[in-house]
Amino acid sequence: MTTSRPAARRGRAQPCADRQPARSPQRADSPSAHPMARAHPAQRGGFRCHGRMTAVRTLRALGATVATVQADVGTADGVARIMAAVRESGRPLGGLVHAAGALADVPISGMTWEHLDSVFESKVYGTLLLDQALAGFPELRFFVGFSSLSAVIGPVGQANYAAGNAFLDELMVRRVDAGLPGLAVDWAPGPRSAWRPR
Ligand SMILES: NC(=O)c1ccc[n+]([C@@H]2O[C@H](COP(=O)([O-])OP(=O)(O)OC[C@H]3O[C@@H](n4cnc5c(N)ncnc54)[C@H](OP(=O)(O)O)[C@@H]3O)[C@@H](O)[C@H]2O)c1
Repeated sequence: MTTSRPAARRGRAQPCADRQPARSPQRADSPSAHPMARAHPAQRGGFRCHGRMTAVRTLRALGATVATVQADVGTADGVARIMAAVRESGRPLGGLVHAAGALADVPISGMTWEHLDSVFESKVYGTLLLDQALAGFPELRFFVGFSSLSAVIGPVGQANYAAGNAFLDELMVRRVDAGLPGLAVDWAPGPRSAWRPR
């Protein structure tokens, strides 16, 4: 795990979502052990996918209340619906993990606006819209953005993805500089990851 800039490292230690579901309901750090154990995962395409449903079921088995929202985080309407669901819960918003992302790999010589836009939807527009929406939640303790090592090394064919993640990194640095919670995690791709440049 790396932060992209020294300023981000100066920020408070922030929790980060585990990419794997917790293995045992008895874990001391289970969501149910937390006084604000409530999650609002949002997906653009819904929760039909087996892996996503398994994650939701696992959280519920651990005792967390999980409300799902289907929304495009790259649109103002989508972010408004996510925030409305949080407000309707009647509970404070403890934190937000922004893990949405998409790829549109192509050599830079063939890159069109569509290639840029499809990656920027989540990484640039989504991050910016969430940043703005979170101003309405002063109780927020963490805002974690899933970024990529690509933002630092700029792999071939991923200029759009590198730029989108670099934007996310920089926005988090600016939040920290402004005294707001913010953390970018620059994940490295796993050995069989779709996020590995081809
Ligand atoms: N896995 C890795 O090796 C790796 C490495 C570096 C960085 N990362 C970063 O980590 C994050 C998660 O990666 P992952 O492997 O879990 O990816 P994943 O399995 O492909 O999941 C990405 C999710 O983002 C959602 N999404 C994309 N655009 C969206 C939008 N505009 N609004 C709402 N949801 C949107 C997708 O939903 P739909 O399918 O419904 O569109 C999908 O559920 C990404 O931001 C990625 O850049 C991952």
